[in-house]
Amino acid sequence: MRALVVYESMFGNTAAVANAVAEGLAGAFEVTLADVRERPPVAGVDLLVVGAPTHAFGLSRPSTRADAGKQGEVRAGARETGIREYLDAASPLAGLPVAAFDTRMDTRFPTGSAARKALRRLHGLGGQPVVPAEDFRVGGMTGPLVAGEIERARRWARKVADRHTSSAA
Ligand SMILES: Cc1cc2nc3c(=O)[nH]c(=O)nc-3n(C[C@H](O)[C@H](O)[C@H](O)COP(=O)(O)O)c2cc1C
Repeated sequence: MRALVVYESMFGNTAAVANAVAEGLAGAFEVTLADVRERPPVAGVDLLVVGAPTHAFGLSRPSTRADAGKQGEVRAGARETGIREYLDAASPLAGLPVAAFDTRMDTRFPTGSAARKALRRLHGLGGQPVVPAEDFRVGGMTGPLVAGEIERARRWARKVADRHTSSAA
């Protein structure tokens, strides 16, 4: 079975989580890990996982990605596109199992959730959520990830794989 993990990341935190998610899925799937800039095709996959940083309570836009550039050094090409645009261009998913995660600030104040927005969009395209949207925390705008989040991302991915397997049975 094939899984596609597509991520967007300004400062590298969501990319690191996406890498851990790919590792966690690797026991059950042949995994393709792709930056959203590559616009990876969904055709032929058995599971689609998307990951994005929370910007302005949801998915990034060109304006928030431009703002990110004022907060710190962003990854090459990261301002060009995001998960919002990827989903805008996506074909109907026709029951494809899907999951979504985000990174966001570690604060007691409301943060919003790019993952919840993404999962709603995936569901709207006909995808079948395997688990609820999940968030991973960063200590500041540019990171770093809170201690333990990488291992938690691997565990979350193993849960996604387990749920996928049991719902397919
Ligand atoms: C323009 C901008 C807006 C942001 N808005 C939010 C927000 O609404 N809620 C939140 O929790 N974090 C917010 N953040 C923090 C991001 O979630 C954080 O930069 C991200 O998790 C880092 O991941 P990355 O390194 O993959 O870009 C914002 C960051 C930027 C640059």
